[in-house]
Amino acid sequence: MAQQEVVTSSVEDSVAVIRIANPPVNALSAAVRGGLKREAEAAAANPAIRAIVIVAEGKTFIAGADITEFGKPPVPPSLPEVIAILETLAKPVVAAINGAALGGGLEVALGCHARVAAPSAKLGLPEVKLGILPGAGGTQRLPRLIGTAPAVKIAAEGNPISAKEAQSLGLVDEVAEDVVPAAKALALKLAGGTLPTPARDRANLGAREAFEEAAAALLKKNADNPSVAAVVDAVRACFEKSFEEGLAVERAHFLRLRDDPRSKALRHVFFAERAAARIPNLPKGTQPRPVAKAAVIGGGTMGGGIAMCFANAGIPVTLIETSEENLQRGLERVAGNYATSVKRGSLTEEARDKRMSLIEGKVGLENAAGADVVVEAVFEEMGLKKEIFGKLEGIAKPGAVLATNTSYLDVDEIAASTSRPGDVLGMHFFSPANVMKLLEVVRGAKTSPEVLATAMDLGRKLAKVPVVSGVCYGFIGNRMLARRTAMAERLLLEGAQPKEVDKALTDFGFRMGPFAMADLAGLDIGWRIRKATGKKAPVADALCEAGRLGQKTKRGYYDYSADGRTGAADPEVAALIERVSAEQGIARRAIPQDEILERLLYPMINEGARILEEGIALRAGDIDTVWLNGYGWPAWTGGPMFHADSVGLPKIVARLREFAAGGDESLQPAPLLVRLAEQGSSFAALDQKAA
Ligand code: CAA
Repeated sequence: MAQQEVVTSSVEDSVAVIRIANPPVNALSAAVRGGLKREAEAAAANPAIRAIVIVAEGKTFIAGADITEFGKPPVPPSLPEVIAILETLAKPVVAAINGAALGGGLEVALGCHARVAAPSAKLGLPEVKLGILPGAGGTQRLPRLIGTAPAVKIAAEGNPISAKEAQSLGLVDEVAEDVVPAAKALALKLAGGTLPTPARDRANLGAREAFEEAAAALLKKNADNPSVAAVVDAVRACFEKSFEEGLAVERAHFLRLRDDPRSKALRHVFFAERAAARIPNLPKGTQPRPVAKAAVIGGGTMGGGIAMCFANAGIPVTLIETSEENLQRGLERVAGNYATSVKRGSLTEEARDKRMSLIEGKVGLENAAGADVVVEAVFEEMGLKKEIFGKLEGIAKPGAVLATNTSYLDVDEIAASTSRPGDVLGMHFFSPANVMKLLEVVRGAKTSPEVLATAMDLGRKLAKVPVVSGVCYGFIGNRMLARRTAMAERLLLEGAQPKEVDKALTDFGFRMGPFAMADLAGLDIGWRIRKATGKKAPVADALCEAGRLGQKTKRGYYDYSADGRTGAADPEVAALIERVSAEQGIARRAIPQDEILERLLYPMINEGARILEEGIALRAGDIDTVWLNGYGWPAWTGGPMFHADSVGLPKIVARLREFAAGGDESLQPAPLLVRLAEQGSSFAALDQKAA
């Protein structure tokens, strides 16, 4: 039976070793919960057993509740029930934490009498990242064990801590390389004396002021996050209520948040990110090539940032420029970025020195010879890129992956300039490359499966979220962005002001609207591209012609003359927009905020549907992953395609038809969108079918 397979126990030296084996991460499925209860009760009843140790197979201890069970009818025993059984046993129970003990996994450990952790183990309560809060006593036991101030921080931030830190906080009793024998020895030692007080009965809450101070800082930083507010409320109950009453406070928050659509969206985000790592139909046995050394061509902002990604991951990298002067400028920019991190306290000086020592600057393409992967990050100019890839053919070692960081250009055309197109693909980083998590891996028509697997594997090693895209203008992200950019301009012509358009998106949850973003990036980038491609954006063009290029000229869509960074609405811009509207013969009108939002988002969703239909994206979830990690789409709405499902596809189809009736045929709903809407289906269902 499944239950007997995932949790087993053996008796070793009068210690019952209860072993959980539920790959890949020992999540607390119904079978695991049932198995733990069964084995714990059997050990309690067996007079030959003096103590109990809970161990787990594989790399992790227990990664928490089984997230796939959320939203399904509950199957007993519940996790709180299992933990209560462990906690009230008359024999000592010790957790042998070999790897990650997260969420419900840490809560199981908190229900034990003591904890032994491996040096590499991570302990945490990441539930807030899923839009919930710990639901099995974590907000009550952890504060009683280590104090309310550190506990509220761990549960509200959701970031795991190291075994060493856990030991210094009193969360872990011992750190040992070999956790099972160490836990057994500790369990036997405890069996010989009085049983340690379980976490629930400890009173190590710390000072109320320290807690309130920590709580205020967390609430300020996460003002709109209902999970953080719930964590603070539940931990505060430790001061005001009994343990049992505190559990009830936690439970009420847990049930409310679990059923909130925001938590459903965040669970989708979790699984979509992981699904994006899977490439269907790769030939069996395809292995990534090893990458021990990298080269980046072009020491501009992008190239320097990409070189930092390699150095941060411990991979030596050569940054290549065409002149000593450009190279020095590039290296100085990199050093400047690291210096900022050191100043902020997010990087130690030793780590900075180590990383800088992994970046070697060189002049001349021939220095790419020793690299296992070469990333080209020069100007967006097809001629230049083809020239570089042509030359690389004679320089790069056989089997080296040749990647272009192009944002728009045809990767197949670039690949055709070498005799090894199978080694070529796109690795599209997002600016700033050392910060943004998204990596679009652009698979060309001839990219070999091995090379694709190498780029995906490398992406993860660089701490990125890699997503596969097919070749098309702008790939997944920028192709959709172009729809939003065009509509934002159109809204200005029809009657909106930049502030109203930006506000619609920031109210939805984006950090910045399109115009504030354009001012930050510089309006001349788009202007140059439009000139090269013969496209027009009357308002943006007029601003550029007036020398308003964004923050760098202190004027763009907004006026930055106050402090260089804060944009104020500018009457000159309002007048310019009105003039351009008149020139275009467009009658202006007040446009309601909800219409602005729909007109910005639905055309993007529509383009997403086309991208999916054409096979450019493998899944709707991949499109969401792109927008969440590269463009600041608010995670609690799940990404554009998940949001579309939440709104309802029939509504989106109907609205797009209304927009298209205004004369822009490109706004007609994509056939896939229409089909799914008519079938009463969804993007999620489509992904599920394909999985
Ligand atoms: N439930 C179900 N599946 C899970 C899971 C969970 N809690 N955690 C991970 N998985 C699955 C992943 O979906 C993935 O599946 P596929 O291979 O099919 O894509 C697989 O396990 C491996 O996961 P990763 O790719 O993330 O592996 P990793 O080695 O990079 O990381 C990890 C391992 C650190 C444990 C990471 O998976 C992780 O952070 N997991 C989530 C932890 C978490 O949020 N726990 C809290 C759950 S909520 C809770 O516990 C509530 C409560 O109070 C009871």
